[in-house]
Amino acid sequence: MSMESKKGAPVGVFDSGVGGLTVVREIIRQLPDENIVYFGDTARVPYGSKSQKTVIRFSEQIIRFLKTKQVKAIVIACNTASALALDIVREEFDVPILGVVAPGARAAVKATRNRKIGVVGTDATVRSGVYTKVIQGIDPQIRVIEKACPLFVPLVEEGFKEHEVTREIIEYYLESLRATDIDAMILGCTHYPLLRSRIREYMGKEIQIVNPAYETAIDLKTLLEDQDMANKGSDPAGSRYEFYVSDTADKFRQFANTVMPFDVPETNVVNIESY
Ligand code: DGL
Repeated sequence: MSMESKKGAPVGVFDSGVGGLTVVREIIRQLPDENIVYFGDTARVPYGSKSQKTVIRFSEQIIRFLKTKQVKAIVIACNTASALALDIVREEFDVPILGVVAPGARAAVKATRNRKIGVVGTDATVRSGVYTKVIQGIDPQIRVIEKACPLFVPLVEEGFKEHEVTREIIEYYLESLRATDIDAMILGCTHYPLLRSRIREYMGKEIQIVNPAYETAIDLKTLLEDQDMANKGSDPAGSRYEFYVSDTADKFRQFANTVMPFDVPETNVVNIESY
């Protein structure tokens, strides 16, 4: 691929479902000239209850699919896959791959004043202990309390944000975290920013809620600039956004339309097991 065609090539972004759209939203805000191909693994969500071996296999298949779209870089917009598969797939593939955990950890380290950080995420992410490792790698004095909230993902996927039960489930998971003196909390699952206002309502204004998406988009910008791959000067027709899923394309598109700042184009189903 020539350098010019590389600049115009899309960035691949993936997640187990709709959660990664919170990262796409931020990439579009900070990098409006980049074209994006998104894949949501709606047939196999949730990842958070799966084994590392399975999450690695799913991630490899999605990366192989995204490579058929000639992506110039890939963002794993999923904390679970970033925690369990990023190191492995980075070794395996000849395309730059970014995750969301390191940017999220860095943002929280900047945000905390009392060096006590809470992390909420899927079972797999919390079990991996990756956030504690990365945060304490930056500052060993920081105390990290991690809490798995597995029911948050189906609540989001089913569009239950405003539902009454959501408040009860938030309380069930976060009561113990609210009772600590953490002053920053990482939304360590890309689905959770879609419940942000409900989480904030419960946790109170004193705790800074950190969404790793912001720092992830900064990392992507730095990577594209460093490797001379940034798409400068937008296409007169506008940036292109393509969306693919492994199942239930209409449901995904309907949801995506409530989250994205533009009309989401037709979403195609991909037989991801064949990659
Ligand atoms: N959105 C993903 C994450 O950031 C995965 C959620 C799931 O599929 O369990 O962890």
